Amino acid sequence: MKNENNKKVMLTGVRPSGNLTIGNYLGAIKNFVERQDSYESYIFIADLHAITSPRNPADLKKSIYDCIAMYLACGVDPNKTIIFKQSAVLEHGTLGFIMTFQTKMGELSRMTQFKLKSQQQTKEGVDTGLFVYPTLMVADILLYNTSIVPVGKDQQQHVELTRDLAERFNKRYGQTFLLPDVYVAPIGNKILNLQNPNEKMNKSDSGNNKGTIFLLDDIAVARKKIMSAKTDNFNSVHFDEERQPGISNLMSILAKITGESFQSIEQRFKNRGYGEFKKEVANEVCKLLEEIQSKYKKFNNQEFLDNLLFEGAIQAQKTASTTLSKSLTALGLK
Ligand code: TYM
Repeated sequence: MKNENNKKVMLTGVRPSGNLTIGNYLGAIKNFVERQDSYESYIFIADLHAITSPRNPADLKKSIYDCIAMYLACGVDPNKTIIFKQSAVLEHGTLGFIMTFQTKMGELSRMTQFKLKSQQQTKEGVDTGLFVYPTLMVADILLYNTSIVPVGKDQQQHVELTRDLAERFNKRYGQTFLLPDVYVAPIGNKILNLQNPNEKMNKSDSGNNKGTIFLLDDIAVARKKIMSAKTDNFNSVHFDEERQPGISNLMSILAKITGESFQSIEQRFKNRGYGEFKKEVANEVCKLLEEIQSKYKKFNNQEFLDNLLFEGAIQAQKTASTTLSKSLTALGLK
C-alpha cells in the first residue's frame, strides 16, 4: 500500500530503557537512516513498552528525551521522518488491546524474547506486560500501513507475528491491514556482548557494562572495551560465528560501520595479530561515537524535542486514527 506521496511506509521503534548501545545503532537505527529517503518514514519511542516492568518515572522521562536526541544524532532527519512518542498516539493502546484478543496464548508463549525475559522474573511472578508485549508491537506496525520494519534479529519473530495476526484479522473481518515485511540486515543483526560473545549485547549488561558499547560511552572507555574484548586462540582474523564468535562479532562491527566485506578484512589482517585488528575496530568505533556524541549534545534540548514530538504526534495520529477507525468498522464496533 502506498500513500499520498506514492511511497511505501517504513517504521521502527526503540524502547527508552537505558542508554542506547552500538547494537541498537548497527542492528536497527543505521538501517532505518540509510533508507529514510526512499520511504514515508516513521520512528517512535516505544515508551509504553518500557513500562512492561516497573520503572522509576524520573529516569524513564529522561531516557525518553535522551532517546529522541540520540535518534537525531544518529542521522534521523525530522524533515524526512515523522518522530513521535508511542504513548502520545492513543490509537496504539486501543489497537494493541484489540490485537491481544486476536492472539492465542500459545502464540505469545512461543515468543523467544518472552521465554528469555520471563526466566529473569521468577521471584515475584512474570509481568503480564512481558507476555502481551508483542501484540502492542503488532499494533505499532499495523496502524501506519507499514511495508517494511527494520529491526535486529531478536525482534524478527515479533514482526512475523504481526503478519500472522494481520492476515487472521483480514480473513475474519475483511481486508483491513497491510502485511509488513521485516528487514533484518545480513550484517550486524545481532551484535554480541564483547565479554561473552555467546550472548546478545544488551542495554543492561550484568558484567559491569564491560561487554557493551554504549553510544554515550567515554571514548577512552569504549576503546578499552574493544581492546579487551574476548577472542580465541586461533590467531586468525576469520569469520566463523561458531568457532570464533568473538572475532566474528568484531568483524561484523567493523564491516557494518565501514561497509568493508568480511573477505577484504580477512585479507588485510592475514598474518597480523589480534592486537592490530582490535586497534582498527576500536578506531572506527571511536570515530563513530565521537561523531554521534558531538551531534547528541546539540540536540539534547528539552524545548526543541518537545516541539518535535508535538508535531510528530499530530502527523502520526492522522494515519493511526484512520487505520483504527477502519478496524473498528470491520469489527462492527463503529
Ligand atoms: P529494543 O529497544 O530492544 O531495541 C531496538 C532495536 O535495536 C535492535 N537491537 C539489536 N540489533 C543488533 N544487535 C543487538 N545487540 C541489538 N540489540 C537491540 C532491536 O532488534 C531493535 O530493532 N520491541 C522493540 C521496540 C518496538 C518496535 C515496535 C520495533 C516496539 N514496537 C515496532 C519495531 C516496530 C524493542 O524492544 O527494541
